[in-house]
Amino acid sequence: MHGALDELVDRSWAAAAARRDARSGAVIARPPTMPLREPRQESRFGNAFPVLEHFERALALARRHELADLAAALEAARGELRWSQNAAYDETNVDRALLDGYAYAVLTAPDGPLPCEAPLCGYLMMAPDLLYRDHRHAPREIYLVLTPGTRWCLDSGDWFEVTPGELIVHEPWQMHAMRTGDQPLLAFAAWLEPGDRTAIRI
Ligand SMILES: [Fe+2]
Repeated sequence: MHGALDELVDRSWAAAAARRDARSGAVIARPPTMPLREPRQESRFGNAFPVLEHFERALALARRHELADLAAALEAARGELRWSQNAAYDETNVDRALLDGYAYAVLTAPDGPLPCEAPLCGYLMMAPDLLYRDHRHAPREIYLVLTPGTRWCLDSGDWFEVTPGELIVHEPWQMHAMRTGDQPLLAFAAWLEPGDRTAIRI
């Protein structure tokens, strides 16, 4: 029923598991799928998030770099993607630039097109010249970056650039922030344990 989405999820986890976190050396295996206990809504879905105007450019960029096969799988699934934002992010706690500048295509999640309790996974898009400021959450998280030019900040420390094909692991409650340069970010992002998107502290 969701052939292209299942294929995308399988390929994304396989690519993540084939890499090591550049800083800790950690290798992350795909967690077993936990069946959904009860449906719940943690996302605000839509297909008109302003950041999506950068999707074509981000895909084209990703196709010129190391994870071109994931970009192709993402493109093949594009008609089935369910773009979203965190339902807890609004004008009271997040600035307008971020609300206009990011979206997340949910794949596996309690409210995703492939429903499950865990692991959550999907694809994050960020517009150029955007800061996703310090935030943290209980589940351990991985990012697999497809596009060049984004910098990362862990534990409110120094910023470092992340190149396509790099795996980044955020430990439970580890503070993290991302800042794009003149190109959009496209990245596979996953939580390894069950968690509530609306419980992110930002
Ligand atoms: Fe995170």
